[in-house]
Amino acid sequence: MEDHVDRFLTADDLAKTLRQDVREGLAGTPKTLPPKWFYDERGSALFEEITRLDEYYPTRREREILTARASEIAALTGARTLLELGAGSGEKTRLLLGALKGTLRSYVPVDVSGDFLEEAAAAIAADFPDLAVRTVVADYEQHLHLLPGGERRLIAFLGGTIGNMPPAARVGFLGGLRATMGEGDFLLLGADLVKDPGRLVRAYDDAAGVTAEFNRNVLHVINRELDADFDVTAFEHVAVWDEAEEWIEMRLRSTRAQDVRVGGLDLEVSFAEGEEMRTEISAKFRRERMEAELGASGLELAEFWTDAVGDFSLTLARPRT
Ligand code: SAH
Ligand code: AVI
Repeated sequence: MEDHVDRFLTADDLAKTLRQDVREGLAGTPKTLPPKWFYDERGSALFEEITRLDEYYPTRREREILTARASEIAALTGARTLLELGAGSGEKTRLLLGALKGTLRSYVPVDVSGDFLEEAAAAIAADFPDLAVRTVVADYEQHLHLLPGGERRLIAFLGGTIGNMPPAARVGFLGGLRATMGEGDFLLLGADLVKDPGRLVRAYDDAAGVTAEFNRNVLHVINRELDADFDVTAFEHVAVWDEAEEWIEMRLRSTRAQDVRVGGLDLEVSFAEGEEMRTEISAKFRRERMEAELGASGLELAEFWTDAVGDFSLTLARPRT
């Protein structure tokens, strides 16, 4: 069905937020950059490549759960609208779209990566001609209240992307989501689970170096968008398991002492040799933590599924009454 695109994020908004994030992140100790800036066209394509790597199990495992549970999800939710946050290619979502055929009227993929999203949504619209596809270019950390309402909405947040938010932001985000939900709405939340640290580190430091390229891509984005002169080759990819926090942390390590000029911010930043800048956390969950965080946000767990070996989880939650 005909496509409709809503842009809650204009190029100007994006530029402004990027400037603010980079200014704040480079002023901190340690320096940090938020992961949402990985995803320009190249970053989104690199992420898709990551999902096909042997070492990166989350996408395969989540697909396994969706394949097994899609008809149950359809029966439990009877969703009329599927709203997907951080939709990316929406490739796994096709399993849900197929299973929900009987009740589903519209699909609303939401993502900051506008061009990539529009291409993916157009492909889905072509393959599901009875579905109204309404594409929303937005930041789910800022624009939840602007997303379309309606009855019987299924809000999907897949891939484990919830784990890329720090715990405090996660609780705020889930609470904000709960505030937009009415009776009959459900949340379908994909989350990666705590497991052997060796496997976790390999999933974020693959032998072919695709994740390293993905990580360094944020520097290409800043060079292009903020007229910076990061020497991308002088930063190496680091992935470490933080046992206490139960998250994987991705960092970029400066291989030498260097000064970087960010022209668009009129800023000069120094990196010491070996200095590490945090670019992403990817939190891993246990069922109890998931239940507790949902509970603290006014949501209750209806179903908790995992793949056969217990690598990844998919939770169906609803507003607590
Ligand atoms: N859901 C897909 C893609 C996951 S990659 C999957 O499971 O494979 C994470 C996606 O979230 C990317 O497409 C990225 O552009 C998007 N994203 C990251 N931060 C975002 C934000 N703050 N608001 C909206 N989309 C965001
Ligand atoms: C999108 N997100 C869930 C991915 C993750 O696993 O945290 C992003 C990613 N980072 C490195 N590899 C994949």
